[in-house]
Amino acid sequence: MPLPLPSAENRAVVTGASQGIGEALAAELAARGYNLITVARRKDVLERNAEKLSRRFGVTVEVRAMDLADRGERAELADEFARRDIAILCNNAGIATFGPVSKLDPAYERFVVELNAVAVHDLTLAVLPGMLDRGSGGILITGSAAGNMPIPHNATYAATKAFTNSFSESLRGELKDTGVHVTLLAPGPVRTDMPPIEDQSVVERLVPDFLWVSGEYTARLSLDALSRNKMRVVPGPLSKAMSVAGGYSPRAVVAPIVGSFYKKLGGE
Ligand SMILES: NC(=O)c1ccc[n+]([C@@H]2O[C@H](COP(=O)([O-])OP(=O)(O)OC[C@H]3O[C@@H](n4cnc5c(N)ncnc54)[C@H](OP(=O)(O)O)[C@@H]3O)[C@@H](O)[C@H]2O)c1
Repeated sequence: MPLPLPSAENRAVVTGASQGIGEALAAELAARGYNLITVARRKDVLERNAEKLSRRFGVTVEVRAMDLADRGERAELADEFARRDIAILCNNAGIATFGPVSKLDPAYERFVVELNAVAVHDLTLAVLPGMLDRGSGGILITGSAAGNMPIPHNATYAATKAFTNSFSESLRGELKDTGVHVTLLAPGPVRTDMPPIEDQSVVERLVPDFLWVSGEYTARLSLDALSRNKMRVVPGPLSKAMSVAGGYSPRAVVAPIVGSFYKKLGGE
């Protein structure tokens, strides 16, 4: 069963659509003719992007400016999605923190868990009954190569991405022959915007240009993979290498090596 075709009634949803991979996913879906619902906190940015996409591709873009880490705001969105014809859901919004968790703000670490893991779970469960009734739909979940391995100094992020990676691939197994596609996007570094040299992170300075993939390439590859109901899409050579290292190396060996690299990202 192919993905639902775009229609006047149905919508493709992209969370974290105000920049980065989410912005590229929204643009790629619009180019493929889907009317959109875009979600992020910054209303002005979402509205500016929506106007551009409507003008360029003639699609309708509804903007939902909200904090997905907030349970109350999220519940309203989940209620709306449960009532609407959602053809495609791209669960993409996510953030990371770096440093030893004992030194990080517990409230912000919880915020990361709510956004990266619980929101993905809530929104997926909201759209699923409708997709199953219609016998078609697509759910793209942005996890990460970071979810394949233990990462000291990036512990909360890595754990949330282990959740999304596992949830996506497990759910896909449950939905075999239902017409609902589920694909995990598990990238390594994706360069969506190159900051000036003084603002670049250690990763941006250390990883050579040819190893980066763009947001646009990642979006195209991901939506092609979703339409073929591929289990996992891993864009670019570095992501693939991280995937193999995470999947086949003993975790006790990987953790200290990766941890010493991430320690630098945490400013130590
Ligand atoms: N880029 C990479 O190298 C890479 C690698 C592996 C995995 N990933 C994953 O890919 C996804 C996108 O990454 P990215 O690099 O494109 O991220 P990004 O450029 O930092 O963008 C994050 C997006 O999420 C939105 N967002 C953040 N907090 C939110 C909240 N509380 N409620 C609603 N929206 C929120 C942001 O918009 P507002 O600020 O307007 O809310 C923004 O649109 C994430 O899940 C990330 O973990 C990225």
